[in-house]
Amino acid sequence: MYKTLNGSAHPLAPAEIAVKAMPEDERVWVPQADNVWFRPLMLNTMVGQWCNLLRVRRSGVLSRHLHPNPVHGYVIAGKWYYLEHDWVADTGSYVFEPPGEIHTLMVPEDCAEMITFFNITGSMVYLDADNRQIGYEDVFTKIDMCRAHYDKVGLGADYVDQFVR
Ligand SMILES: [Fe+2]
Repeated sequence: MYKTLNGSAHPLAPAEIAVKAMPEDERVWVPQADNVWFRPLMLNTMVGQWCNLLRVRRSGVLSRHLHPNPVHGYVIAGKWYYLEHDWVADTGSYVFEPPGEIHTLMVPEDCAEMITFFNITGSMVYLDADNRQIGYEDVFTKIDMCRAHYDKVGLGADYVDQFVR
């Protein structure tokens, strides 16, 4: 029987992460765009995957994007929808976004703030209206953004390291 320091089944398994998802320190939120922030929870460089909270305090189009791999979301507060679908994800909703889907994230005008947990594998490929790529994100660009922001706000660039595996 395995007996390991971190209590997991495999001696090489990475250490667990257990944090308050909603941080008390506002600086933990990393600005992503105007009135859009993310809060890193797990930045998985072994698989190329990340978990974070997305917080949006504006309405309208957030992004049009493709993800080649699956995305799981859980809405903690507020609501949002995709232009391409007729459902609305509101507080308490779970959303599975299948690989290969292209959609346009919208926050409705009557929503002052939305916060959603996302588990994203692979990448986010940002597209214009004609499906031309205009940018991308992966776990490494997220880590870079965190390092730059935490350095700037005085938490130190290595603040992000606690979330990296
Ligand atoms: Fe998506």
